[in-house]
Formats: sequence, C-alpha cells, structure tokens
Amino acid sequence: MSKIDIINFDGVYEPAEDSWLMSRYIPEFKGSVLEIGCGSGIISIHLAQRGNQVTAIDINPKAVEATKFNSKNNNLEVEVFEGDMFHPVQGRKFGTIVCNPPYLPPADEYDDPELELAVEGGPTGTEFTIQFLSLAKEYLEPNGSIYMILSSRMDKFETKWNKETIKQEKYFFERLNLVRFNNF
Ligand SMILES: C[S@@+](CC[C@H](N)C(=O)[O-])C[C@H]1O[C@@H](n2cnc3c(N)ncnc32)[C@H](O)[C@@H]1O
Repeated sequence: MSKIDIINFDGVYEPAEDSWLMSRYIPEFKGSVLEIGCGSGIISIHLAQRGNQVTAIDINPKAVEATKFNSKNNNLEVEVFEGDMFHPVQGRKFGTIVCNPPYLPPADEYDDPELELAVEGGPTGTEFTIQFLSLAKEYLEPNGSIYMILSSRMDKFETKWNKETIKQEKYFFERLNLVRFNNF
C-alpha cells in the first residue's frame, strides 16, 4: 500500500487512533463502498487506493471540501456529498458501508461545534450509531457488510445485526473496536 498524504483542515476531525484502526485493519474486499462521516477523507481514500468505487458523505461542509482536496491530492477518485447520513444516496445500494461515528457521550471539553459534531454521538454516545444501523439496511446490497468503530466509552446497545469484532486496541482510557455487522 503506498503512502497517503492527508492535509488537515480547520474545523475537520483530524485523523486519530480510531481513523487509523479502521484504515489499517479493515479486511480486503472489492466493490462499491459508502462512507458516512468522511471527515478528512482518510478512510475513503485508503479504500479507493485498494481499487474500490468509493462514495463519501459528511454533514460538515468543511469535511466535504477536505475529502475532495485530499482524494485529488492523492490522485484517487472519491464521489463526495454534503448531507445528513444517507440522505444524498437515497435509492442507491453499496456492497460495503463504513463509518467511524461520533461515539462519545457529551462533555464540556469542546468549544468548537464542528469537533463536537464529529465526536459526540448523543446523550449515551450510542444514538448516532443506533440510527445509522437502523437506516443502513436500505442502502446495503444483500450479503454486504458494515464496518464501524465502537468505543468502550459508549453505553451497551441492542441490534438485530450479527456483530463480530475484527480488531481491538486498548488505551488507558478506552478500548476501541473495529466491528463488522452483517446478515439481518
Ligand atoms: C469521528 S469523525 C470521523 C472522520 C473520519 N472518517 C476519520 O475516521 O477520521 C465523525 C465524522 O462524522 C461526521 N458526522 C457527524 N454527524 C453526521 C451526520 N448526521 N451525517 C453525516 N456525517 C456526520 C462529522 O462531521 C465527522 O466528520
């Protein structure tokens, strides 16, 4: 895999442990991929570099600009839309859907609304993820898979999807999991 250069943009989530966990350990597959919440574009760009046809969405217009810039800067094609979750791709289906979601419960530590949007997943940290998983089936091809990052700092939640942990990394304050959901 050749090196990817990511330029950081003001107001856009800077790649961190969760972004690298997904980029490094997501298994090989080929086909159409949708990323919800692309931020700088790091994950979408990795997947485009592997030869997938990648579509990326973010609600933050600065993230859309960053993903367009970074994909072009790495000579890779990514289709990028601004929008709320699946809204811009209504009626379409993808072989794989990926998301490193906002997953933390609210904290007072952010004065930056774009950073807050990137990290806070609702009152228990799970609300974004639960909504994402309940909508995703409509956009996933039969036998497709969803890959997500989940944190030990989120509350536990129930889902109809089969869930399998692909890779876990431990930090002193949390455990991050790369999880695959499929078959429901
Ligand atoms: C944790 S960041 C991940 C960014 C990037 N994928 C990475 O791994 O570095 C979550 C991203 O989700 C975006 N986001 C938050 N709510 C969203 C929504 N309702 N629809 C689409 N994107 C959303 C944020 O703007 C942010 O860029």
